[in-house]
Amino acid sequence: MPAAEVIVPLKPSGMPRDRRGRPLRDLRISLMDRCNFRCPYCMPRETFHEQYRFLGSHERLSFDEIVRLARLFVQLGVRKLRLTGGEPLLRANLPDLIGDLTGIAGVEDIALTTNGMLLGRYAAELRAAGLHRVTVSLDSLDEAVFKRMSGGFAGVGDVLAGIEQARRAELAPIKVNAVIQRGVNDAGVLDLVEHFRGSGVIVRFIEYMDVGNRNHWTSALVVPSRDLHARIHARWPLEPVQAAYRGEVAERYAFRDGQGEVGFISSVSQPFCGDCSRARLSSDGVFYSCLFAAHGTSLRDALRGGASDESLLALIRKVWLERSDRYSELRASFPAQQAEQRKVEMFYIGG
Ligand code: GTP
Ligand code: 5AD
Ligand code: SF4
Ligand code: SF4
Repeated sequence: MPAAEVIVPLKPSGMPRDRRGRPLRDLRISLMDRCNFRCPYCMPRETFHEQYRFLGSHERLSFDEIVRLARLFVQLGVRKLRLTGGEPLLRANLPDLIGDLTGIAGVEDIALTTNGMLLGRYAAELRAAGLHRVTVSLDSLDEAVFKRMSGGFAGVGDVLAGIEQARRAELAPIKVNAVIQRGVNDAGVLDLVEHFRGSGVIVRFIEYMDVGNRNHWTSALVVPSRDLHARIHARWPLEPVQAAYRGEVAERYAFRDGQGEVGFISSVSQPFCGDCSRARLSSDGVFYSCLFAAHGTSLRDALRGGASDESLLALIRKVWLERSDRYSELRASFPAQQAEQRKVEMFYIGG
């Protein structure tokens, strides 16, 4: 049974809190719906082939539009920005945008999520522009498994070289995100831990989620974090670490021998909607209040229609005040056809 509904009354002004009392702290900005990988759980090749119609450049928000919206979100409480994709490093002149975003008073953290293929080329420039840190997706160190899970456009060595350049550029703490699928890459979990233990890079294991409608998700493919924790703990004893901030997505564990930490992101087995303060902006400027939303609100249309800052602020505030999303908490109680409702796709909205 889902937890009982707690509906917090709407607040007319000030920093908005949603209908469950959650503030708006974190803005995740997708810069690009394209990607140079084809991970089957995100952009399966049968759909994202050469004829697939991605957004045109005029449909995407310009850097000026992104900066303007980011500034408004910061006025409403956002302190953390994460740049995502598709693959954000495909966006030309990205350091210019980062330079502008770091200039916004109130922004405490700017991070980027990338598949790592182009990171070696850009790490130093990104750091010089003011980027704080990167999170790199890497699902396996096994060349054949990696190929199967990313589409075969790069090798493990390319991603490791990108991580190495990020380390040299001090884009720290560097995190590695690995989506684990049963029977696909779960056998390589200890290899990933062993490789990064003691290096300062934090590996986080993500339970495979039913994001979007195209990845043929089934619960049989999910490996609960508690199983992975048990396997890692048996080899390298772990102890829990306090969350770095309220609403942190990953549960953190340190190696007892001092060789760093690992994290588990367990949206399926232990949903974390209760503290979710994340807003998402697609590359064409649609504002979504949940990763699993079916609909969003186009801030681009308002912006290009000549809206003032005040009316954009009012629009964002309204969406947040009315927000009551908690998809992951409700997932288990959905009847099958509801679980198949139309949802936004991961490549379009970012992770
Ligand atoms: P830090 O700022 O480093 O703590 O990372 P983060 O919390 O921003 O996490 P990151 O962006 O690396 O997210 C990792 C993965 O967690 C994403 O790719 C998603 O798969 C999942 N995730 C992140 N946010 C949410 C969320 O709001 N809901 C759900 N269901 N999953 C999320
Ligand atoms: N479930 C869990 N994580 C996913 N990601 C993409 N699709 C899924 C999914 N269905 C992850 C990527 C990357 C981040 C952007 O989101 O692997 O780490
Ligand atoms: Fe690209 Fe990331 Fe999606 Fe893979 S998961 S296809 S790297 S956006
Ligand atoms: Fe937030 Fe929606 Fe994820 Fe729950 S499912 S944590 S509300 S984005």
